Amino acid sequence: MRIFSGIRPTGGLHIGNYLGAIKQWIALQETNECVFCIVDLHAITTPYEPKELQKNILETTAVYLAAGINPEKSIIFVQSDVKEHAELAWLLGTICPMGELSRMTQFKDKSRQHKDYVNAGLFTYPVLMAADILLYRSKAVPVGKDQEQHVELARTIAKKFNQKFGKIFPEPETITPKVGAKIMSLTDPKRKMSKSDDPKSYISLFDSPEAITKKIMSATTDSGKDITYNVTKKPGISNLLTIYSLLTDRPVEDIQREFHKKSYADFKKSLAKILIDYLEPFRRKQVELQTRDVYIKEMLNKGASRAKTIAETTMKEVREKMGLS
Ligand code: TYM
Repeated sequence: MRIFSGIRPTGGLHIGNYLGAIKQWIALQETNECVFCIVDLHAITTPYEPKELQKNILETTAVYLAAGINPEKSIIFVQSDVKEHAELAWLLGTICPMGELSRMTQFKDKSRQHKDYVNAGLFTYPVLMAADILLYRSKAVPVGKDQEQHVELARTIAKKFNQKFGKIFPEPETITPKVGAKIMSLTDPKRKMSKSDDPKSYISLFDSPEAITKKIMSATTDSGKDITYNVTKKPGISNLLTIYSLLTDRPVEDIQREFHKKSYADFKKSLAKILIDYLEPFRRKQVELQTRDVYIKEMLNKGASRAKTIAETTMKEVREKMGLS
């Protein structure tokens, strides 16, 4: 099965991105043909610093590699290196209803967040995302919960295209993890962990051990003393228990039992230690990156040329079906 997913190189990738998306990719690449993209064209729809973009692209690639994505097995590449993404997005834009785009919650959130940066690219963002997925005729898209609506729109667009011009595209399904599809903010556990929030609210994959300890020890917890999982009554502790469980591959009940009669501080200290150890390869990879950016760029070029071979074949058919050639 062909699988596609991507992450915006906006800096500050956090454990939500890892647990919601990347962690699934590692398992999927063993038995599927995976295409993992660094979606720079999406990253420029919100305010950004042009001088930082290349650095963020390399850093996101370092995260993919540190997490265990194998470039021999999976295709890793930068979206803007394969021009067909932009071309297909334009074509699909001509069949995507405006009404569908106006319903997108990410557009509503982001336009509220960046009131003076509400551009047409932000509005048509989901069409480019549909193009990413459909260009590779992907059957499944492993993402966190917040991206489900966009994948649903990609299905709608695929269906419309197939009906109007002839069947080319599979209708892609979302793959979300059973646990961890929505990791919550450390400072406000009723909200999603997000890289555009205050850095105190998330653990970056490159955070230093000191920063990790500080953020976890000051994470919002709930009234009471018990370390028990209850999302409505104890959203803070429940979020930390989820993270603990995902990083240790232990069931939540087991962790609750271990910390029965212990304090929030004991539990948080243990979680901080687990995070520090778990994220050590990411910190190492970031340092290594400074000396290996030639290798990384070469790997991305190879990825782009593999991606291009698939993309060109799809585009040839799309152009024919649409009467453009
Ligand atoms: P982005 O860059 O915002 O996030 C990358 C991935 O991380 C997941 N994620 C989370 N998962 C769990 N808990 C959280 N708090 C959390 N925050 C983020 C996201 O669901 C996502 O899987 N539009 C996409 C990028 C994209 C894409 C694509 C994805 C562009 N084209 C095609 C799949 C297929 C985005 O902005 O992700």
